[in-house]
Amino acid sequence: MKVMLVFGTRPEAIKMCPLVLELKKRPEIETLVCTTGQHKELLAQVMEIFKVKADYDLSIMAKQQTLSHITTAVLEGLQPVLQQEQPDIVLVHGDTTTSFAAALAAFYQKIPVGHVEAGLRTYNKYSPFPEEMNRTLVGKIASWHFAPTEGNRLALEKEGVTENVFVTGNTVIDCFATTVKENYVFHNSLLNSLPADKKIITMTAHRRENWGEGIANICTAVNNLCAEFPDVLFVYPVHLNPVVKDRVTAALGNNPQVMLTSPLDVEDMHNLMDRSYFVLTDSGGLQEEAPHLGKPVVVLRKETERPEAVQAGTAIVAGTDPDNIEKICTKLFTDKKFYSSMAEAINPYGDGTASKQIADIIIANMK
Ligand code: UD1
Ligand code: UDP
Repeated sequence: MKVMLVFGTRPEAIKMCPLVLELKKRPEIETLVCTTGQHKELLAQVMEIFKVKADYDLSIMAKQQTLSHITTAVLEGLQPVLQQEQPDIVLVHGDTTTSFAAALAAFYQKIPVGHVEAGLRTYNKYSPFPEEMNRTLVGKIASWHFAPTEGNRLALEKEGVTENVFVTGNTVIDCFATTVKENYVFHNSLLNSLPADKKIITMTAHRRENWGEGIANICTAVNNLCAEFPDVLFVYPVHLNPVVKDRVTAALGNNPQVMLTSPLDVEDMHNLMDRSYFVLTDSGGLQEEAPHLGKPVVVLRKETERPEAVQAGTAIVAGTDPDNIEKICTKLFTDKKFYSSMAEAINPYGDGTASKQIADIIIANMK
């Protein structure tokens, strides 16, 4: 049986590499990896940590690329690869434009698609944009659906998708066995001298729907919080996209309580989060990782397709209004009971066996 995994961005790679490694252990399966190169440096960092090599790389990334560019370049690039390899199944992940275009390319070749991290929904087609629509469309195309949680399975059921749906947990939890270590020495040397007497807050913000006003508001909130709480240090690895990087550098670059870094490799990132007091983010992946590490997450979005962490009490949706962000962060800094209730909530995203379960399901069901 030939299985081809197609992915192209940092978070897809982080969540697909554990599955690649698991599938490669199985003698029944020939595993092929095709990267689209929607991301370049950010993808390379992950491949290096997991020591996964691509059999094909479409290298599509362009500076400040458009959604149309990503879609058409992936569709056109993947067609000859699929025609040559004729895999029995193509696995895609989550909600990126790589995932949507790869699923469509496989469909055009009548190759069944397996969707890893299926069934997440906000039901607002513009938020997250374009991810909500990407994920919904992949759900329509896919023949196999690997849902992280029971809630994700129910969302698919509501849309009439009931066949070949499996609840597996999220493969992101599988990564921690590789990444988080005691007495970890960071690859980025700046992080080896983090002050022991300060509360470290890991933060990221990069999403398309937050470009412009959203990011500006988030930076305002951070500057105000720094003025209020001198014992706090925000560590912000900034996305390479110039739309994000230029604005963040201008707004936070001169604040001594903010450490801006280049993107961290995933080992550094997970260990930084592990050292943090809480996490402030608009990322999807961080909303799943922080609960596993027992860290409260303040979500810098108006809505989330990951309500499980909010229901479990470990995440709180703050939006991008600076007053609201400041109010919630202030409560985390000053109200110990509130902090503990969030830090001690249970991680709802699985036990770190998702990749193993997905490999077992593929072998058992596709013979
Ligand atoms: C993409 C995904 C988003 C995901 C995010 C993870 C889509 C539409 N968006 O958004 O769902 O949350 O990845 O990080 O699929 N760049 C580099 N080097 C890199 C990566 C990016 O220079 O390694 C720059 C390039 O100028 C590129 C730009 O960032 O054009 C934007 O990249 P793109 O993948 O389009 O958007 P992201 O915001 O990264
Ligand atoms: N991440 C990383 N280095 C960074 C920032 C994030 O390794 O500098 C990891 C993070 O731990 C998570 C994933 O990248 O696993 C999240 O990616 P991102 O925020 O880019 O995308 P999203 O999850 O929002 O789709």
